[in-house]
Amino acid sequence: MGEVDPAFIQAVEHRPKLSINEGQNIPLIDLSILNSPNYKDSNEISRLVKEIGDACKNWGFFQVINHGVSLEISQKLEDVSRKFYALSHDEKLKVKRDEVNPLGYYDTEHTKNVRDWKEVFDFTVKNPTLIPASHQPDDDKLRKLVNQWPEFLPDMRQVCEDYADEMVKLAYKLLELISWSLGLEGDRLNGFFEEHTSFIRLNHYQPCPVPDLALGVGRHKDAGALTILAQDDVGGLEVKRKTDGEWVRVKPTPNAYIINVGDIIQVWSNDKYESVEHRVVVNSEKERFSIPFFLNPSHYTWVEPLQELINQHNPAKYKAYNWGKFFATRKLSNFKKLEVENIQI
Ligand code: SIN
Ligand code: FE2
Repeated sequence: MGEVDPAFIQAVEHRPKLSINEGQNIPLIDLSILNSPNYKDSNEISRLVKEIGDACKNWGFFQVINHGVSLEISQKLEDVSRKFYALSHDEKLKVKRDEVNPLGYYDTEHTKNVRDWKEVFDFTVKNPTLIPASHQPDDDKLRKLVNQWPEFLPDMRQVCEDYADEMVKLAYKLLELISWSLGLEGDRLNGFFEEHTSFIRLNHYQPCPVPDLALGVGRHKDAGALTILAQDDVGGLEVKRKTDGEWVRVKPTPNAYIINVGDIIQVWSNDKYESVEHRVVVNSEKERFSIPFFLNPSHYTWVEPLQELINQHNPAKYKAYNWGKFFATRKLSNFKKLEVENIQI
């Protein structure tokens, strides 16, 4: 194992297989029809809605192409992310997450108590105060959640904000398609996001001397509503295939985004769509960059199965929980590197 800190080493049963599973992969869905003005009335839209619904149900994951996100803006963000990670460690530490503010840079993330082989920079979308005081745990020190920007990259803030606007637009398109696929009105979910607490993460995975023992991110499910992920051409994201529980490597597709259903959509849909486990495999040669956008509802949202989707034959499988409270506790527990409690009851 040489120099590698044992904190990174996964238990035997969670170590990755480095050979790529060539079996069936997550669906690739073309969204180009959304760019035509009358898409809501076209025949093709019902085909697209069915594709989205099937992907959510069978995989919890899919890739989209022709999504309308500006290529220029996404390239600028990839550039700025590379520049940020090329800064010296001391410079990055100037914007580090700390006991007061969990946003910014950190390189000591743990998933299920094993250290991840990655470094991360988090920023919120629009709303600089993620969690209002009323939903904070009883600790004054945790009330400051503000974006931090590195002095040496004066453009970074603008680039990040422009990209966030693009992500929010795509997220609303996806929410509409998902709502339709559940038999709901297209705007049924929009009200949950009026003061959304979404955030974006710039991930950097350095080459790893023990890719067979460590993971970039350990197995986990996303807690929010929806994740929109950009990955570079190196690859490493693996999704647990529902049909057989095998880990499947998501093939990098140029200019595509990977979408996955989070725990909140699982609860809203009363398990029709499940939040699926995934992880990131690293390699010994190439660094990898990825950029997830986590779409999260307003802090005051009570998350529970949607009334329209439950009845006496299909009763609610979850009790309501408060997103702000859950998120504050989760953020805190992440920071303290404790195991996050499962929300399921
Ligand atoms: C994650 O799921 O947290 C990261 C995904 C990735 O880097 O591909
Ligand atoms: Fe994730």
